[in-house]
Amino acid sequence: MTQVLTFLGLESSCDDTAAAIVRDGPDGTQILASVVAGQTALHAPFGGVVPEIAARAHAEKLDLCVEEALEKSGLRLTDLDGIAVTAGPGLIGGVMSGVMCAKGLALGAGLPLVGVNHLAGHALTPRLTDDVAFPYLMLLVSGGHCQFLIAHGPEEFTRLGGTIDDAPGEAFDKTAKLLGLPQPGGPAVEAEARTGDPKAFAFPRPLLDRPGCDMSFSGLKTALLRARDAVVAEHGGLPRKTRADMCAGFQAAVADVLAEKSRRALAQYMDHAPAQPTLAVAGGVAANQAIRTRLETVSQEFGATFLAPPLALCTDNAAMIAFAGIERFRRGARDDMSLSARPRWPLDQSAPALLGSGKKGAKA
Ligand code: KG4
Ligand code: ZN
Repeated sequence: MTQVLTFLGLESSCDDTAAAIVRDGPDGTQILASVVAGQTALHAPFGGVVPEIAARAHAEKLDLCVEEALEKSGLRLTDLDGIAVTAGPGLIGGVMSGVMCAKGLALGAGLPLVGVNHLAGHALTPRLTDDVAFPYLMLLVSGGHCQFLIAHGPEEFTRLGGTIDDAPGEAFDKTAKLLGLPQPGGPAVEAEARTGDPKAFAFPRPLLDRPGCDMSFSGLKTALLRARDAVVAEHGGLPRKTRADMCAGFQAAVADVLAEKSRRALAQYMDHAPAQPTLAVAGGVAANQAIRTRLETVSQEFGATFLAPPLALCTDNAAMIAFAGIERFRRGARDDMSLSARPRWPLDQSAPALLGSGKKGAKA
């Protein structure tokens, strides 16, 4: 009989400080509390996440988030069975803040400590929300990540490919900036795109001509910059309709790339003869309706279920860390006071390194 386990999770690898309490047992999984304190306003004047500011804010907010999560769940530290914490990959100062806080709590309360890979947290979310059976295909698509993973087990992942430069969310944010739209760019660009003509501008579909599932989004941003400059040179400004056309053209290019690469990833994944074929997404870009619709259509081509968890669990949160901690703990994983923070920590150690480091830290 599966033992009931209640874990506190901590997340501080980027620009969200989060604490959550998750209970998992024979009757299913419950999120008893999930607190997320964002830092958008702190970084807004700088046009990107400033690692030092992020680390300080995490150090200041973590214990408050823990207190709030405990209060909301009606539990005390002594009611818990363990503490899970993001130990990487991410911005190192933030990850260290979380690991130090978790060590202090674990030592003080005499609880087991489990270090969790942030990407594993995202990748295991379909099991937290829908109890999806292994193996399933996962597309992480956010401001910091973009990769296809086959999840074979809580600690076994095969990476089929990923971005070799920008993440799609980063490209949405940069596009918004270039077109004078507010941050975060994704929702702003999506709203503009609704009234635009996706065919008015022919933006490139990078790496579609190459086999495999790797992606690239930085060339798209350069093409958009050139197109914008040409329009401004000709008209002395950017007409509203042209801006909408550019957003629609950009979004269509990202959707085309993600759809075609998902098709290739699904073809590889189906070779594993999954019992419940599933393509799941995580990350802020999964909020984009146009992209979701395309991914759903591609999934149907393969007879696979398309799964998009609620947005609050697609973006950075600590419930996914608590849950991933429970999954690791059930398999015997335990860390001690030597647990260290890792800026880079690929889920699939055998896959070649994805190059580059985005504004939100290492890519993998
Ligand atoms: O997962 P997330 O909250 O944070 C990390 O990247 O860690 O993702 C945020 C990213 C931002 O780049 C944002 O512009 C993008 O997700 N995003 C979207 C949409 N909503 C958020 N991108 C496209 N369309 C959207 N509707
Ligand atoms: Zn994340």
